[in-house]
Amino acid sequence: MESQIIEIDIVDWKVPAPNDAWIAGVEAGKVLYFPHLPFTLLPEEQALLTPGIRDPKVRNISLDARGHLKGALGDTATQLALALMIGRFREQAQALVYSLLPKYQGALRLAPTSFRPTQVETRAQSWRADDRRLHVDAFPSRPNYGERILRVFCNLNPDGVPRVWRVGEPFETVAKKFVPRVKPYVPWQASVMKALHITKSYRSEYDHLMLQLHDGMKSDLEYQKSAEQVTMPFAAGSVWVCFSDQASHAVMSGQYMLEQTLHLPAAKQYDPSASPLAILTQLVGHPLI
Ligand code: SIN
Ligand code: FE
Repeated sequence: MESQIIEIDIVDWKVPAPNDAWIAGVEAGKVLYFPHLPFTLLPEEQALLTPGIRDPKVRNISLDARGHLKGALGDTATQLALALMIGRFREQAQALVYSLLPKYQGALRLAPTSFRPTQVETRAQSWRADDRRLHVDAFPSRPNYGERILRVFCNLNPDGVPRVWRVGEPFETVAKKFVPRVKPYVPWQASVMKALHITKSYRSEYDHLMLQLHDGMKSDLEYQKSAEQVTMPFAAGSVWVCFSDQASHAVMSGQYMLEQTLHLPAAKQYDPSASPLAILTQLVGHPLI
């Protein structure tokens, strides 16, 4: 299998010039890896790196687009420091993406920025929520009609501990394997889920298929073992960027990460035909949204 990882050795949060191979690579579902791109903590921010700062009722601490901090414990000073740290990462992540993918400027929609202080290995969860299994990202309650999920990840572990991922096979390979096994899409069930507010909007066939891929991959232990994959330790002080709705990934270990999600209409890609929407539409042979 061709490498699914492209290394880019820059030390500032922008690339000197857009690069066609990187653009085509990320749009093909590869992971752009910046091994020497640390997020610099202010001295007073070191104290924020503790798992106890997360409200146990939530999965991650997040800063939404309006600047509201959610999921953090601590006094006002602590919450302010956290919001400023996460906000600074957001600025840097956006600058990096705009320099890499200038055509996306004006088309990206900012999603919340997250801070993940919990150690991955100790997290207990159901198979469906278990990101230690290879998957593509798909959200059960938020249909997206093919809108892309571009993510910037940053390992800020202070003790040099890498965040270890597994990166799997290309999206088309995954889709060809799992689409023949998916449960049929039932439009009236999508209506029921919307009426019951199980979904925030009507679940399209695209969203149904993406969830079926997500669940199909995670529930298949044989696939988890035998799928072509590489184990990838993302170093402390590094950044990586990928379309997480397309790159097959799993997180095995690590602690302390910042993450920025940006949404992009598939039509605004350099090559819309590389999108999961285009690939799945081609495979099933009829419109999905
Ligand atoms: C995921 O999107 O699967 C989580 C990635 C991570 O926590 O490193
Ligand atoms: Fe994921």
